[in-house]
Amino acid sequence: MEMVQSTVMVVDDDDANRVTLERILTRERYRVVHASSGREAMQHLRNDRVDVVLTDLKMPGMSGIDLLKAARMVDPDLEVLVMTAYGTVETAVEAMKEGAYDFVSKPLSRVELLSALRKALQKRELQLENRQLRERLAAVGEGEMIGRSEAMRTLLDEVEQVAPSDATVFLTGESGTGKSRLARLLHRMSRRRDARFVTLNCAAIPENLLESELFGYEKGAFTGAVARKAGRFDLAHGGSLFLDEVTEMTPGTQVRLLRVLQDGEYERVGGTETLRADVRVIAASNRDVELEVQQGRFREDLYYRLNVIPLSVPPLRERASDVTLLAQHFMVRFSNKNAKPLDGFTPEALDALARHRWPGNVRELENAIERAVVLVRGSRIGVPDLPRNLQEGTDRKRLSFDVGTPLKVVERRMIEETLRYCDGDKNLAASLMGITARTIYRREAEWGQDDA
Ligand SMILES: Nc1ncnc2c1ncn2[C@@H]1O[C@H](COP(=O)(O)OP(=O)(O)OP(=O)(O)O)[C@@H](O)[C@H]1O
Ligand SMILES: [Mg+2]
Repeated sequence: MEMVQSTVMVVDDDDANRVTLERILTRERYRVVHASSGREAMQHLRNDRVDVVLTDLKMPGMSGIDLLKAARMVDPDLEVLVMTAYGTVETAVEAMKEGAYDFVSKPLSRVELLSALRKALQKRELQLENRQLRERLAAVGEGEMIGRSEAMRTLLDEVEQVAPSDATVFLTGESGTGKSRLARLLHRMSRRRDARFVTLNCAAIPENLLESELFGYEKGAFTGAVARKAGRFDLAHGGSLFLDEVTEMTPGTQVRLLRVLQDGEYERVGGTETLRADVRVIAASNRDVELEVQQGRFREDLYYRLNVIPLSVPPLRERASDVTLLAQHFMVRFSNKNAKPLDGFTPEALDALARHRWPGNVRELENAIERAVVLVRGSRIGVPDLPRNLQEGTDRKRLSFDVGTPLKVVERRMIEETLRYCDGDKNLAASLMGITARTIYRREAEWGQDDA
Protein backbone atom coordinates (compact mmCIF):
# COMPACT_ATOMS: atom_id res chain seq x y z
CA MET A 1 0.00 0.00 0.00
CA GLU A 2 3.00 2.28 -0.19
CA MET A 3 1.87 5.07 -2.44
CA VAL A 4 5.05 7.09 -2.45
CA GLN A 5 8.56 5.77 -2.44
CA SER A 6 9.86 5.77 1.12
CA THR A 7 13.12 7.52 1.81
CA VAL A 8 15.80 5.93 3.94
CA MET A 9 18.79 7.90 5.11
CA VAL A 10 21.93 5.87 5.69
CA VAL A 11 24.39 7.43 8.12
CA ASP A 12 27.80 5.81 8.43
CA ASP A 13 31.36 7.09 8.40
CA ASP A 14 32.47 3.89 6.66
CA ASP A 15 32.22 4.49 2.89
CA ALA A 16 32.21 0.82 1.91
CA ASN A 17 29.39 0.15 4.30
CA ARG A 18 27.29 3.00 2.91
CA VAL A 19 27.75 1.77 -0.65
CA THR A 20 26.69 -1.77 0.25
CA LEU A 21 23.64 -0.53 2.07
CA GLU A 22 22.65 1.78 -0.73
CA ARG A 23 22.83 -1.12 -3.20
CA ILE A 24 20.63 -3.34 -1.05
CA LEU A 25 18.09 -0.60 -0.44
CA THR A 26 17.84 0.73 -3.97
CA ARG A 27 17.19 -2.77 -5.21
CA GLU A 28 14.20 -2.82 -2.85
CA ARG A 29 12.99 0.39 -4.48
CA TYR A 30 13.70 2.64 -1.55
CA ARG A 31 14.95 6.11 -2.19
CA VAL A 32 18.28 6.47 -0.43
CA VAL A 33 19.96 9.55 0.98
CA HIS A 34 23.29 9.23 2.68
CA ALA A 35 25.47 11.08 5.11
CA SER A 36 28.91 10.33 6.46
CA SER A 37 28.41 12.17 9.74
CA GLY A 38 25.74 13.19 12.16
CA ARG A 39 26.03 16.84 11.15
CA GLU A 40 25.57 16.06 7.51
CA ALA A 41 22.58 13.90 8.44
CA MET A 42 20.94 16.75 10.31
CA GLN A 43 21.35 19.00 7.30
CA HIS A 44 19.50 16.52 5.14
CA LEU A 45 16.77 16.17 7.72
CA ARG A 46 16.11 19.86 7.72
CA ASN A 47 15.85 20.06 3.95
CA ASP A 48 14.60 16.72 2.75
CA ARG A 49 11.81 14.32 3.43
CA VAL A 50 13.20 11.30 5.25
CA ASP A 51 11.07 8.46 6.61
CA VAL A 52 13.61 6.27 8.35
CA VAL A 53 17.15 6.86 9.47
CA LEU A 54 19.53 3.94 9.51
CA THR A 55 22.55 5.03 11.48
CA ASP A 56 25.79 3.63 12.78
CA LEU A 57 26.29 4.18 16.49
CA LYS A 58 30.00 4.82 16.66
CA MET A 59 30.97 7.78 14.53
CA PRO A 60 33.48 10.54 15.09
CA GLY A 61 31.92 13.80 16.19
CA MET A 62 28.21 13.34 16.66
CA SER A 63 27.42 9.80 17.81
CA GLY A 64 24.44 7.80 16.60
CA ILE A 65 22.66 8.47 19.86
CA ASP A 66 23.24 12.21 19.63
CA LEU A 67 21.91 12.11 16.11
CA LEU A 68 18.89 10.18 17.27
CA LYS A 69 18.02 12.80 19.86
CA ALA A 70 18.57 15.72 17.50
CA ALA A 71 16.65 14.09 14.66
CA ARG A 72 13.66 13.45 16.88
CA MET A 73 13.54 17.15 17.66
CA VAL A 74 13.22 17.96 13.99
CA ASP A 75 10.64 15.26 13.24
CA PRO A 76 9.06 13.50 16.21
CA ASP A 77 7.54 10.85 13.94
CA LEU A 78 10.88 9.92 12.41
CA GLU A 79 11.89 6.30 12.93
CA VAL A 80 15.51 5.53 13.63
CA LEU A 81 17.20 2.16 13.26
CA VAL A 82 20.66 1.79 14.73
CA MET A 83 23.42 -0.46 13.51
CA THR A 84 25.63 -1.88 16.12
CA ALA A 85 28.75 -4.00 16.01
CA TYR A 86 28.63 -7.44 17.51
CA GLY A 87 29.21 -7.29 21.25
CA THR A 88 27.98 -3.73 21.88
CA VAL A 89 24.41 -4.55 22.66
CA GLU A 90 24.44 -2.25 25.70
CA THR A 91 24.80 0.78 23.49
CA ALA A 92 21.98 -0.51 21.30
CA VAL A 93 19.76 -0.84 24.35
CA GLU A 94 20.61 2.70 25.34
CA ALA A 95 19.63 3.83 21.85
CA MET A 96 16.30 2.05 22.17
CA LYS A 97 15.69 3.84 25.44
CA GLU A 98 16.27 7.10 23.64
CA GLY A 99 13.56 6.15 21.17
CA ALA A 100 15.30 4.18 18.44
CA TYR A 101 12.83 1.85 16.79
CA ASP A 102 15.09 -1.20 16.64
CA PHE A 103 18.68 -2.19 16.16
CA VAL A 104 20.40 -4.46 13.69
CA SER A 105 23.76 -5.98 14.48
CA LYS A 106 26.75 -5.95 12.23
CA PRO A 107 27.73 -7.74 10.15
CA LEU A 108 24.33 -6.99 8.69
CA SER A 109 22.02 -9.72 7.51
CA ARG A 110 20.11 -8.52 4.47
CA VAL A 111 16.89 -10.24 5.51
CA GLU A 112 17.06 -8.97 9.06
CA LEU A 113 17.78 -5.44 7.93
CA LEU A 114 14.95 -5.31 5.41
CA SER A 115 12.46 -6.74 7.83
CA ALA A 116 13.35 -4.23 10.53
CA LEU A 117 13.15 -1.46 7.97
CA ARG A 118 9.72 -2.52 6.75
CA LYS A 119 8.39 -2.57 10.29
CA ALA A 120 9.83 0.83 11.06
CA LEU A 121 8.24 2.24 7.93
CA GLN A 122 4.89 0.74 8.78
CA LYS A 123 5.01 2.36 12.17
CA ARG A 124 5.97 5.66 10.64
CA GLU A 125 3.08 5.50 8.20
CA LEU A 126 0.63 4.72 10.94
CA GLN A 127 1.92 7.58 13.03
CA LEU A 128 1.63 10.02 10.17
CA GLU A 129 -1.90 8.86 9.47
CA ASN A 130 -2.81 9.32 13.08
CA ARG A 131 -1.28 12.74 13.23
CA GLN A 132 -3.18 13.83 10.17
CA LEU A 133 -6.34 12.42 11.64
CA ARG A 134 -5.80 14.22 14.92
CA GLU A 135 -5.20 17.46 13.11
CA ARG A 136 -8.29 17.00 11.00
CA LEU A 137 -10.34 16.10 14.02
CA ALA A 138 -9.06 19.03 15.99
CA ALA A 139 -10.49 21.16 13.23
CA VAL A 140 -13.86 19.40 13.54
CA GLY A 141 -15.99 21.33 15.95
CA GLU A 142 -18.02 19.58 18.58
CA GLY A 143 -21.34 18.68 17.04
CA GLU A 144 -20.27 18.59 13.44
CA MET A 145 -21.25 15.63 11.36
CA ILE A 146 -18.37 13.34 10.47
CA GLY A 147 -18.70 11.66 7.10
CA ARG A 148 -17.40 11.97 3.61
CA SER A 149 -19.62 9.44 1.87
CA GLU A 150 -21.62 10.63 -1.08
CA ALA A 151 -24.84 10.32 0.93
CA MET A 152 -23.47 12.36 3.81
CA ARG A 153 -22.13 15.10 1.58
CA THR A 154 -25.45 15.47 -0.15
CA LEU A 155 -27.19 15.67 3.20
CA LEU A 156 -24.77 18.26 4.56
CA ASP A 157 -25.18 20.37 1.45
CA GLU A 158 -28.92 20.39 2.02
CA VAL A 159 -28.42 21.25 5.67
CA GLU A 160 -26.25 24.19 4.78
CA GLN A 161 -28.92 25.43 2.41
CA VAL A 162 -31.89 25.16 4.74
CA ALA A 163 -30.30 25.97 8.09
CA PRO A 164 -30.57 29.77 7.81
CA SER A 165 -34.31 29.77 7.07
CA ASP A 166 -37.07 29.42 9.63
CA ALA A 167 -38.76 26.64 7.72
CA THR A 168 -39.79 23.55 9.63
CA VAL A 169 -37.49 20.61 9.05
CA PHE A 170 -38.50 17.00 9.39
CA LEU A 171 -35.65 14.58 9.99
CA THR A 172 -36.26 10.93 9.31
CA GLY A 173 -33.91 7.99 9.57
CA GLU A 174 -33.32 4.86 11.57
CA SER A 175 -32.43 4.98 15.22
CA GLY A 176 -28.89 6.13 15.90
CA THR A 177 -28.22 7.62 12.46
CA GLY A 178 -27.56 11.09 13.86
CA LYS A 179 -30.90 12.90 13.70
CA SER A 180 -30.57 14.52 17.10
CA ARG A 181 -27.05 15.60 16.33
CA LEU A 182 -28.16 17.01 13.02
CA ALA A 183 -30.98 18.94 14.68
CA ARG A 184 -28.45 20.65 16.93
CA LEU A 185 -26.25 21.40 13.95
CA LEU A 186 -29.19 22.98 12.12
CA HIS A 187 -29.74 25.25 15.08
CA ARG A 188 -26.06 26.16 15.30
CA MET A 189 -26.02 27.07 11.64
CA SER A 190 -29.17 29.16 11.85
CA ARG A 191 -29.51 32.81 12.69
CA ARG A 192 -31.10 31.66 15.97
CA ARG A 193 -27.82 30.13 17.12
CA ASP A 194 -27.48 32.48 20.09
CA ALA A 195 -30.92 31.65 21.41
CA ARG A 196 -31.92 28.39 22.98
CA PHE A 197 -32.10 24.96 21.45
CA VAL A 198 -34.83 23.12 23.34
CA THR A 199 -35.49 19.42 22.99
CA LEU A 200 -38.57 17.40 23.76
CA ASN A 201 -38.62 13.66 23.29
CA CYS A 202 -42.31 13.02 22.76
CA ALA A 203 -41.92 9.28 23.39
CA ALA A 204 -40.36 9.73 26.80
CA ILE A 205 -43.22 11.79 28.23
CA PRO A 206 -46.47 10.15 29.33
CA GLU A 207 -49.18 10.98 26.80
CA ASN A 208 -51.33 12.93 29.25
CA LEU A 209 -48.45 15.20 30.21
CA LEU A 210 -47.16 15.91 26.73
CA GLU A 211 -49.49 18.81 26.07
CA SER A 212 -48.50 20.67 29.22
CA GLU A 213 -44.85 19.96 28.52
CA LEU A 214 -45.22 21.57 25.11
CA PHE A 215 -47.33 24.55 26.00
CA GLY A 216 -46.92 24.89 29.74
CA TYR A 217 -49.80 25.32 32.15
CA GLU A 218 -51.43 27.94 34.34
CA LYS A 219 -51.75 27.68 38.07
CA GLY A 220 -54.78 25.56 38.93
CA ALA A 221 -55.06 24.03 35.44
CA PHE A 222 -55.30 20.62 37.05
CA THR A 223 -54.75 18.99 40.42
CA GLY A 224 -51.14 19.55 41.36
CA ALA A 225 -50.68 22.61 39.14
CA VAL A 226 -49.74 24.81 42.08
CA ALA A 227 -47.90 27.39 40.01
CA ARG A 228 -47.67 28.44 36.38
CA LYS A 229 -45.16 26.40 34.43
CA ALA A 230 -43.47 27.34 31.19
CA GLY A 231 -43.72 24.94 28.27
CA ARG A 232 -41.12 24.11 25.68
CA PHE A 233 -42.57 26.63 23.27
CA ASP A 234 -42.06 29.33 25.89
CA LEU A 235 -38.52 28.16 26.61
CA ALA A 236 -37.56 28.01 22.95
CA HIS A 237 -38.83 31.52 22.22
CA GLY A 238 -36.47 33.10 19.70
CA GLY A 239 -34.66 29.79 19.27
CA SER A 240 -35.33 26.30 17.98
CA LEU A 241 -37.51 23.53 19.32
CA PHE A 242 -36.55 19.97 18.52
CA LEU A 243 -39.51 17.60 18.72
CA ASP A 244 -38.00 14.15 18.78
CA GLU A 245 -40.19 11.10 18.08
CA VAL A 246 -42.90 13.51 17.02
CA THR A 247 -45.17 10.71 15.77
CA GLU A 248 -45.73 9.59 19.38
CA MET A 249 -48.43 12.15 20.12
CA THR A 250 -52.09 11.72 20.96
CA PRO A 251 -54.56 13.03 18.35
CA GLY A 252 -55.46 15.88 20.72
CA THR A 253 -51.88 17.06 21.08
CA GLN A 254 -51.40 16.75 17.33
CA VAL A 255 -54.24 19.20 16.79
CA ARG A 256 -52.70 21.73 19.13
CA LEU A 257 -49.31 21.40 17.56
CA LEU A 258 -50.86 21.86 14.15
CA ARG A 259 -52.36 25.11 15.31
CA VAL A 260 -49.07 26.58 16.51
CA LEU A 261 -47.44 25.62 13.27
CA GLN A 262 -50.24 27.19 11.24
CA ASP A 263 -50.97 30.36 13.17
CA GLY A 264 -47.97 30.64 15.44
CA GLU A 265 -50.34 30.85 18.40
CA TYR A 266 -50.99 28.78 21.48
CA GLU A 267 -52.40 28.85 24.97
CA ARG A 268 -51.03 27.28 28.08
CA VAL A 269 -53.07 24.41 29.47
CA GLY A 270 -55.81 25.96 31.60
CA GLY A 271 -54.97 29.41 30.24
CA THR A 272 -56.96 31.90 28.19
CA GLU A 273 -54.20 34.24 27.09
CA THR A 274 -53.09 33.62 23.50
CA LEU A 275 -49.32 33.53 23.15
CA ARG A 276 -47.23 33.99 20.03
CA ALA A 277 -44.61 31.42 19.22
CA ASP A 278 -41.36 32.60 17.67
CA VAL A 279 -39.85 29.19 17.33
CA ARG A 280 -38.23 27.25 14.58
CA VAL A 281 -39.46 23.69 14.80
CA ILE A 282 -37.29 20.73 13.91
CA ALA A 283 -39.06 17.40 14.13
CA ALA A 284 -37.71 13.89 13.95
CA SER A 285 -38.97 10.37 13.77
CA ASN A 286 -37.41 6.99 13.21
CA ARG A 287 -40.70 5.56 11.99
CA ASP A 288 -42.07 5.24 8.52
CA VAL A 289 -44.12 8.42 8.83
CA GLU A 290 -46.06 7.96 5.60
CA LEU A 291 -47.25 4.63 6.94
CA GLU A 292 -48.26 6.26 10.22
CA VAL A 293 -50.28 8.73 8.19
CA GLN A 294 -51.84 6.06 5.99
CA GLN A 295 -52.88 4.07 9.01
CA GLY A 296 -54.43 7.11 10.62
CA ARG A 297 -52.11 7.39 13.59
CA PHE A 298 -50.56 10.65 12.49
CA ARG A 299 -52.53 13.56 11.06
CA GLU A 300 -51.87 14.15 7.43
CA ASP A 301 -52.22 17.94 7.71
CA LEU A 302 -49.73 18.00 10.57
CA TYR A 303 -47.38 15.87 8.55
CA TYR A 304 -47.44 18.38 5.69
CA ARG A 305 -46.89 21.26 8.08
CA LEU A 306 -43.87 19.56 9.58
CA ASN A 307 -42.52 18.18 6.37
CA VAL A 308 -41.80 21.51 4.71
CA ILE A 309 -38.19 20.49 4.39
CA PRO A 310 -37.71 16.75 4.62
CA LEU A 311 -34.23 15.51 5.35
CA SER A 312 -33.51 11.85 5.58
CA VAL A 313 -30.42 10.55 7.29
CA PRO A 314 -29.20 7.36 5.61
CA PRO A 315 -28.44 4.26 7.68
CA LEU A 316 -24.78 3.62 8.36
CA ARG A 317 -24.75 0.41 6.29
CA GLU A 318 -25.52 2.51 3.22
CA ARG A 319 -22.47 4.69 3.73
CA ALA A 320 -19.80 2.12 4.37
CA SER A 321 -17.00 4.58 3.72
CA ASP A 322 -18.02 6.56 6.80
CA VAL A 323 -17.59 3.58 9.12
CA THR A 324 -13.80 3.75 9.26
CA LEU A 325 -13.79 7.50 9.53
CA LEU A 326 -16.32 7.53 12.35
CA ALA A 327 -14.53 4.66 14.10
CA GLN A 328 -11.31 6.64 14.06
CA HIS A 329 -13.07 9.76 15.21
CA PHE A 330 -14.58 7.93 18.18
CA MET A 331 -11.27 6.20 18.88
CA VAL A 332 -9.49 9.54 19.17
CA ARG A 333 -12.27 11.01 21.27
CA PHE A 334 -12.45 8.16 23.73
CA SER A 335 -8.72 7.67 23.91
CA ASN A 336 -8.36 11.33 24.87
CA LYS A 337 -11.23 11.06 27.31
CA ASN A 338 -9.69 8.01 28.97
CA ALA A 339 -6.15 9.39 28.72
CA LYS A 340 -5.22 6.23 26.88
CA PRO A 341 -3.17 7.04 23.79
CA LEU A 342 -3.79 4.59 20.95
CA ASP A 343 -2.37 4.12 17.49
CA GLY A 344 -5.59 2.96 15.83
CA PHE A 345 -6.97 -0.37 14.74
CA THR A 346 -5.53 -3.61 13.48
CA PRO A 347 -6.46 -4.29 9.84
CA GLU A 348 -8.57 -7.25 11.04
CA ALA A 349 -10.54 -5.01 13.38
CA LEU A 350 -11.19 -2.50 10.59
CA ASP A 351 -12.36 -5.40 8.48
CA ALA A 352 -14.79 -6.59 11.14
CA LEU A 353 -16.15 -3.05 11.51
CA ALA A 354 -16.64 -2.77 7.77
CA ARG A 355 -18.45 -6.11 7.52
CA HIS A 356 -20.95 -5.44 10.29
CA ARG A 357 -24.44 -4.23 9.32
CA TRP A 358 -24.83 -1.73 12.18
CA PRO A 359 -28.53 -2.09 12.97
CA GLY A 360 -28.01 0.53 15.70
CA ASN A 361 -26.15 2.78 13.26
CA VAL A 362 -23.68 5.41 14.52
CA ARG A 363 -24.77 5.00 18.13
CA GLU A 364 -23.91 1.30 18.00
CA LEU A 365 -20.53 2.12 16.48
CA GLU A 366 -19.86 4.79 19.08
CA ASN A 367 -20.66 2.38 21.91
CA ALA A 368 -18.55 -0.37 20.37
CA ILE A 369 -15.52 1.91 20.10
CA GLU A 370 -15.90 3.35 23.56
CA ARG A 371 -15.97 -0.15 24.97
CA ALA A 372 -12.98 -1.20 22.87
CA VAL A 373 -10.91 1.78 24.02
CA VAL A 374 -11.63 0.90 27.62
CA LEU A 375 -10.80 -2.78 27.12
CA VAL A 376 -7.79 -2.65 24.83
CA ARG A 377 -4.43 -3.51 26.37
CA GLY A 378 -2.07 -2.88 23.48
CA SER A 379 -1.75 0.27 21.45
CA ARG A 380 -4.13 -0.83 18.72
CA ILE A 381 -7.73 -1.96 18.90
CA GLY A 382 -8.02 -5.55 17.70
CA VAL A 383 -10.87 -7.92 16.95
CA PRO A 384 -10.96 -9.32 20.53
CA ASP A 385 -11.69 -5.80 21.82
CA LEU A 386 -14.83 -5.50 19.70
CA PRO A 387 -18.29 -6.61 20.83
CA ARG A 388 -18.93 -10.33 20.45
CA ASN A 389 -21.55 -9.98 17.73
CA LEU A 390 -18.98 -8.23 15.54
CA GLN A 391 -16.41 -10.92 16.07
CA GLU A 392 -18.52 -13.79 14.89
CA GLY A 393 -21.26 -12.43 12.71
CA THR A 394 -24.46 -12.42 14.74
CA ASP A 395 -25.01 -14.24 17.96
CA ARG A 396 -28.37 -13.25 19.17
CA LYS A 397 -29.28 -14.84 22.43
CA ARG A 398 -32.32 -17.14 22.37
CA LEU A 399 -35.06 -17.25 24.95
CA SER A 400 -37.26 -20.23 25.72
CA PHE A 401 -40.37 -20.48 27.87
CA ASP A 402 -42.70 -23.22 29.08
CA VAL A 403 -46.06 -23.38 27.35
CA GLY A 404 -48.47 -21.41 29.48
CA THR A 405 -45.96 -18.92 30.81
CA PRO A 406 -47.85 -15.72 31.65
CA LEU A 407 -47.51 -13.27 28.77
CA LYS A 408 -46.49 -10.56 31.20
CA VAL A 409 -43.47 -12.62 32.18
CA VAL A 410 -42.62 -13.41 28.56
CA GLU A 411 -42.98 -9.77 27.61
CA ARG A 412 -40.77 -8.54 30.40
CA ARG A 413 -37.99 -11.02 29.67
CA MET A 414 -38.18 -10.26 25.98
CA ILE A 415 -38.02 -6.51 26.49
CA GLU A 416 -35.21 -6.75 29.01
CA GLU A 417 -33.10 -9.08 26.89
CA THR A 418 -33.70 -7.09 23.74
CA LEU A 419 -32.68 -3.92 25.54
CA ARG A 420 -29.52 -5.65 26.69
CA TYR A 421 -28.86 -6.79 23.13
CA CYS A 422 -29.35 -3.20 21.94
CA ASP A 423 -27.14 -1.75 24.65
CA GLY A 424 -30.11 -0.03 26.26
CA ASP A 425 -31.19 1.76 23.10
CA LYS A 426 -34.95 1.89 23.49
CA ASN A 427 -35.66 3.07 19.98
CA LEU A 428 -33.68 0.27 18.44
CA ALA A 429 -35.13 -2.34 20.77
CA ALA A 430 -38.64 -1.10 20.03
CA SER A 431 -38.09 -1.25 16.31
CA LEU A 432 -36.79 -4.83 16.56
CA MET A 433 -39.84 -5.89 18.55
CA GLY A 434 -42.32 -3.95 16.46
CA ILE A 435 -43.58 -1.80 19.33
CA THR A 436 -43.16 1.87 20.21
CA ALA A 437 -40.41 3.17 22.41
CA ARG A 438 -43.17 4.61 24.57
CA THR A 439 -44.42 1.09 25.31
CA ILE A 440 -40.98 0.28 26.69
CA TYR A 441 -40.91 3.41 28.85
CA ARG A 442 -44.39 2.60 30.09
CA ARG A 443 -43.57 -1.04 30.88
CA GLU A 444 -40.45 -0.03 32.75
CA ALA A 445 -42.48 2.31 34.90
CA GLU A 446 -44.96 -0.52 35.61
CA TRP A 447 -42.20 -2.94 36.56
CA GLY A 448 -40.71 -0.33 38.84
CA GLN A 449 -44.07 -0.22 40.65
CA ASP A 450 -44.40 -4.02 40.73
CA ASP A 451 -40.92 -4.39 42.12
CA ALA A 452 -41.34 -1.74 44.77
N1 LIG B 1 -21.98 11.95 11.50
C1 LIG B 1 -21.70 11.85 12.81
N2 LIG B 1 -20.52 12.30 13.29
C2 LIG B 1 -20.22 12.18 14.60
N3 LIG B 1 -21.03 11.65 15.50
C3 LIG B 1 -22.22 11.19 15.10
C4 LIG B 1 -22.62 11.27 13.73
N4 LIG B 1 -23.86 10.74 13.61
C5 LIG B 1 -24.21 10.34 14.83
N5 LIG B 1 -23.25 10.62 15.74
C6 LIG B 1 -23.29 10.28 17.18
O1 LIG B 1 -23.96 9.03 17.29
C7 LIG B 1 -24.86 9.03 18.38
C8 LIG B 1 -26.26 8.77 17.87
O2 LIG B 1 -26.72 9.89 17.12
P1 LIG B 1 -28.12 10.60 17.40
O3 LIG B 1 -28.48 10.52 18.84
O4 LIG B 1 -28.11 11.92 16.78
O5 LIG B 1 -29.05 9.58 16.58
P2 LIG B 1 -30.62 9.66 16.31
O6 LIG B 1 -30.81 9.44 14.86
O7 LIG B 1 -31.17 10.89 16.92
O8 LIG B 1 -31.14 8.38 17.10
P3 LIG B 1 -32.63 8.11 17.73
O9 LIG B 1 -33.54 7.87 16.59
O10 LIG B 1 -32.40 6.88 18.55
O11 LIG B 1 -32.97 9.30 18.54
C9 LIG B 1 -24.71 10.36 19.06
O12 LIG B 1 -23.78 10.25 20.12
C10 LIG B 1 -24.15 11.25 17.98
O13 LIG B 1 -23.40 12.31 18.51
MG1 LIG C 1 -32.33 11.13 18.58
